[in-house]
Amino acid sequence: MSFNLQSSKKLFIFLGKSLFSLLEAMIFALLPKPRKNVAGEIVLITGAGSGLGRLLALQFARLGSVLVLWDINKEGNEETCKMAREAGATRVHAYTCDCSQKEGVYRVADQVKKEVGDVSILINNAGIVTGKKFLDCPDELMEKSFDVNFKAHLWTYKAFLPAMIANDHGHLVCISSSAGLSGVNGLADYCASKFAAFGFAESVFVETFVQKQKGIKTTIVCPFFIKTGMFEGCTTGFLPLKTGLLIADYLGILHAMDGFVDQKKKL
Ligand SMILES: NC(=O)c1ccc[n+]([C@@H]2O[C@H](COP(=O)([O-])OP(=O)(O)OC[C@H]3O[C@@H](n4cnc5c(N)ncnc54)[C@H](O)[C@@H]3O)[C@@H](O)[C@H]2O)c1
Repeated sequence: MSFNLQSSKKLFIFLGKSLFSLLEAMIFALLPKPRKNVAGEIVLITGAGSGLGRLLALQFARLGSVLVLWDINKEGNEETCKMAREAGATRVHAYTCDCSQKEGVYRVADQVKKEVGDVSILINNAGIVTGKKFLDCPDELMEKSFDVNFKAHLWTYKAFLPAMIANDHGHLVCISSSAGLSGVNGLADYCASKFAAFGFAESVFVETFVQKQKGIKTTIVCPFFIKTGMFEGCTTGFLPLKTGLLIADYLGILHAMDGFVDQKKKL
């Protein structure tokens, strides 16, 4: 009997909280939400050498953040660094880092801590796609997808989350994908790695929530195809390809990370 009472009580609390969240979401869909001030925050972006990573770097530069840019592609990363300075960033630090290599991530993370300080916003954005049917995809490419798209997130969290917890201040951002929510033809390894990244980020979010680490925030972004070049030549059965691709600077990440940006630019 008392077990039933306990369960009913928990169910009512759950339903009450769900209703509250729904109302909150409806209100914030109509009213502008207070925006997060990211000036002075140390923002680390992986895969900053092109595409979304570069766009994010430029956006955070305009908002006065300290930028830490990681990419395996030194040239692309330095170009982003230069563009970020031109966009107004006064402190930009570029590091060449292969995020798929655990030891490399830990080594460069230590360097960042010494040279820049504690990262307060971590954006796991670096990603790759093999774009082959499962049985045509070589094992090492599938392993690489997991190393870059998912396992790199484990190592960066291990490196930077402890300081966020100690400071009770931090924001973890996972760039997953709509392919991290449902399976896609020809993208089995990519989808699996993006599901993994989503599940990992959500689980750590729950961990921080349960441990009442209120200063640690999480954002998980699941964009549809974006016109960055990553899915060049890809077609979708739902929308005409040319219009189906999202314009990165408008609908993609910047829209999803609404809380960070002060202006959405329509291309
Ligand atoms: N473009 C899309 O349609 C789309 C859709 C959903 C999600 N995403 C995700 O958004 C993120 C960014 O994608 P994008 O479209 O800007 O792609 P992109 O190819 O333009 O950029 C990816 C960046 O990651 C870097 N990178 C790759 N492997 C790396 C490694 N081992 N270590 C460090 N850096 C590495 C690349 O050099 C590149 O600069 C990815 O995680 C991608 O899966 C993209």
